[in-house]
Amino acid sequence: MKRIGVLTSGGDAPGMNAAIRAVVRCGIDNGMEVYGIRRGYEGLLDGEIEKMERSDVGDILHRGGTILQTARSERFQKKEGQKRAATVLETFGIEGLVVIGGDGSTRGGLDLSRQGIKVMCVPGTIDNDVAYSDFTIGFDTAVNTVLDAVSKIRDTSSAHERTVVIEVMGRHCGDIALYAGLAGGAECALLPEEPFDVNEICRRILEGTNRGKLHSIVINAEGSGIATDKLVKEIEAKTGRETRPVILSYLQRGGTPTMRDRLLATRTAAKAVELLRDDEDSKAIGEIGGQILAFDLEAALKVERDFDREMYDLIGVLAK
Ligand code: F6P
Repeated sequence: MKRIGVLTSGGDAPGMNAAIRAVVRCGIDNGMEVYGIRRGYEGLLDGEIEKMERSDVGDILHRGGTILQTARSERFQKKEGQKRAATVLETFGIEGLVVIGGDGSTRGGLDLSRQGIKVMCVPGTIDNDVAYSDFTIGFDTAVNTVLDAVSKIRDTSSAHERTVVIEVMGRHCGDIALYAGLAGGAECALLPEEPFDVNEICRRILEGTNRGKLHSIVINAEGSGIATDKLVKEIEAKTGRETRPVILSYLQRGGTPTMRDRLLATRTAAKAVELLRDDEDSKAIGEIGGQILAFDLEAALKVERDFDREMYDLIGVLAK
């Protein structure tokens, strides 16, 4: 393996730059040429490809976003797009690719591997929505950002004796809501994975109020099944307490990556380079129990991900 490429795809995540840095520097260290592909699969189709040197990835380890930019490519989702992407890579003499992205980007990696390209997928997304890794790059930073917001919102909510519904990202995976809910001491967290009862949420809020609690925090994942504004109105009507929405949105995707995200990014990306160097078949790379492991790409994508019910139940116990 002489020439490899690297791209970031889907929603950006803090730590993606740390992963790019590790691919470039570990690749060069292994005697390879490393090519950066801009704007994910979209830029690949347009041939936006440039050779990268060690110095191109200096001073980015601590930065959020991605220096390669990212995109969601509709063109690449079609078979012709995937064939064209493989042809572009062949034209540049790129034999292997590191894809840094979430579930959708990894599925794109599998499509590309079926066109004869070796693809190593590194889990970069704040969503924590892959089954083959305990955590994804960016998740830890995003949850810490949410927790920072929860603390600030708690101050003002206590002052005004309000309930606040904080909407966090997660269309299909509620891990940001789950982890922030438990670590942030919320009354409850609404997840896409689990049905909920607004009456039960209101019961918890009133229970807290009756024992002198000044504020109540509800965390609503964007894909929970109820819009935040609607939930706010229902809670206000049923509890008689002033209730406000806060939608954290893209705030969650920015910021300097935490130590955990930098290490996860660096270690999984280094593993991706090692696998390309050894001419291994396409893989999904993850961290399980602290170990960096590589799984067959197709098999990894077939495994269903489940949420941690114990953590979910604990939120209710602690809110009593
Ligand atoms: O995949 C990461 C993510 O931030 C999701 O949590 C969110 O649902 C989605 O991206 C938002 O996508 P976009 O950047 O296209 O608005």
